[in-house]
Amino acid sequence: MSGRPIYILGIESSCDDTAAAVSADCRILSNITAGQEIHSLYGGVVPELASRAHQQNIVPVIDAALKKAGINKNELNAVAFTRGPGLMGSLLVGGSFAKAFALGLQLPLIEINHLRAHILAHFIETDEKPVPSFPLLCLTVSGGHTQLVLMKDYDIMEIIGETNDDAAGEAFDKAAKIMGLPYPGGPLVDKFAKEGNPHAFSFPHPHMPGLSFSFSGLKTAFLYFIESQSKINKNFVEEHKQDLCASIQETIIQILLAKLIKATEQTGIRNIAISGGVSANSGLRKTLQEEAAKRGWTLSIPKMEYCTDNAAMIAVAGYFKYLRGEFSGQDIAPAARYIL
Ligand code: KG4
Ligand code: ZN
Repeated sequence: MSGRPIYILGIESSCDDTAAAVSADCRILSNITAGQEIHSLYGGVVPELASRAHQQNIVPVIDAALKKAGINKNELNAVAFTRGPGLMGSLLVGGSFAKAFALGLQLPLIEINHLRAHILAHFIETDEKPVPSFPLLCLTVSGGHTQLVLMKDYDIMEIIGETNDDAAGEAFDKAAKIMGLPYPGGPLVDKFAKEGNPHAFSFPHPHMPGLSFSFSGLKTAFLYFIESQSKINKNFVEEHKQDLCASIQETIIQILLAKLIKATEQTGIRNIAISGGVSANSGLRKTLQEEAAKRGWTLSIPKMEYCTDNAAMIAVAGYFKYLRGEFSGQDIAPAARYIL
């Protein structure tokens, strides 16, 4: 298709990343994220501090996204923003900015569900790989959610399995915290796991019915194990950090994989995707690639920059809604609990 592309400004502020991106149809022209280091001092995201940091970061981040894209704000076709789920104070900053920006420039406003956007990140066009086909089975694994989603079209998604307690990202972060690693621990567990033996220690797998997940039992088992071993040897964690990281990571991966396999068997779908922050995990990516080759799945794994929270996914999700003419009014409010 030729002609002028549709330019969308995407804004993401659901948790502790302030992000803005500009898309041209399904391609990304810029993707800027400002993280918030402050939370590592507290071992987790402090909502009040997150909203303040969003307030400080949002204008510079949006400015940078427009500059990097080489797009003037008057050339934009619409503004898309994360409506939820997420932290209310954080969502309010991005949402209020988006509304004011759209009002000032008389642009259409598009509200986006963050979880849908994580999945729609697969439909960002790049030169490296084709976009997936429908029907698609997507495993979303983030800091707040673990879901198996059956997707029949860009806007037709159904949750067929999810966690009853902690999310996979939380399992990584809590295990890291137990080992004394700073927040967010997931990427650090990934890093140390590369030098460890995934079978050095074994942890219990939950027996959950159907396609449900559970990670809270694993966290408790890990905590008790570390406590008991540390009583015998106070340097236990330090001396076995790599093996502990590799073993807990392997357990989480196997729990996820078992349900994913079950879901493919139940649905007969062989187009598989993973999304969300935990899809950046190198062990999970490798295991799924091996499993896909063995089982004949067509596997889609997002580029690293589209795994964790980003605004490129919000911009592209906005593009699909723009094509369908799904716009919001100025009375739109954030939805901290926004179901897929
Ligand atoms: O999608 P995301 O950026 O934010 C939410 O929407 O929750 O996901 C953040 C989660 C955190 O729990 C973080 O520790 C985890 O993703 N994460 C990882 C890795 N990178 C991010 N977990 C394991 N290995 C990684 N490499
Ligand atoms: Zn996310």
